[in-house]
Amino acid sequence: MDIAGLEREALDALEKTKDIAALDAWHATYLGRKSRLNVFMRSIGELPLAEKKTVAPAAQATKRLLEEAYARREKYIAGSNEAAAFDVTMPAIRPVYGRLHPLTLVERSIRTIFSSMNFSVVEGPELETEKYNFDSLNIPKNHPARDMQDTLWVSTDKGTLMRTHTSPMQVRHMEKHLPPFQIIVPGRVFRNEATDASHEINFYQFEGLMVGEGISLANLKGVITGFCERFFERAVDVRFRPSYFPFTEPSVEIDIRMENGKWLEVMGGGMVHPAVLEGVGYDPAKISGFAFGGGLDRFAMIKYGITDIRLFYGADLRFNNQF
Ligand code: PHE
Repeated sequence: MDIAGLEREALDALEKTKDIAALDAWHATYLGRKSRLNVFMRSIGELPLAEKKTVAPAAQATKRLLEEAYARREKYIAGSNEAAAFDVTMPAIRPVYGRLHPLTLVERSIRTIFSSMNFSVVEGPELETEKYNFDSLNIPKNHPARDMQDTLWVSTDKGTLMRTHTSPMQVRHMEKHLPPFQIIVPGRVFRNEATDASHEINFYQFEGLMVGEGISLANLKGVITGFCERFFERAVDVRFRPSYFPFTEPSVEIDIRMENGKWLEVMGGGMVHPAVLEGVGYDPAKISGFAFGGGLDRFAMIKYGITDIRLFYGADLRFNNQF
């Protein structure tokens, strides 16, 4: 038995093992019960004593050496499996991205379009006073128009309420600025009313106000048409229908023609009432202005084909993730 030759052969074979299965097979071949080394060692007892004395320690030494080499190899393969588990060529795990809410997308688009038409974007408080929400807009106490907008009062004593429209910002802005100017006011408004597919207890408006010398309803129509065409990315017909608001005279409802040919109301508007202009110290004989209030949710519903306003406020990711 060439023990030295067997040892070399075993060590060469061991270096070629690349996984646990190959290592197990190697163990059976070189260290197992039926391995040549084991079979040989069991036969040593039958050898003449002199031969036994030299061969037995050599066989023992080889066995120990192969066992140690086997243990080292086992550790090495286990270690390289750890490396294999960290496969840099594997496709990465995608992070879950947040998305912008459709109302945010629409508000941003409104800001961008009006900014490009030289409007300034301003914002106002959601918690308002009776004075700005009603009185300064020519809506005196006990005026039936207060019933048009069911109010969420915070304190009837102090006259604080959640604004029912963005129109109070008309007055807040005019008090602090001299014409000419043009502003847009996107923001949340609140109404104390039952909800259904087209009514929510809170929703969004965008108020527009352009004040200067010689401003007319024609300017309003031009601005609204220009805005709608940019917003819907198509030619849009805009129609004015006579209406009534205490703070505009004349007042109009503004409709746009849908792609199916039907007219849909999207805004209220008109020429700023002389009493409102006087209230902020402007001279109505010299200064005029138009104002409008658009339903931001309504614009979003048309743009995305949404039929129930309540979906915007349901926090349902199956809805939100579609935008
Ligand atoms: N504030 C009115 C509403 O909420 C809309 C409007 C704004 C009308 C500006 C005229 C001028 O219904």
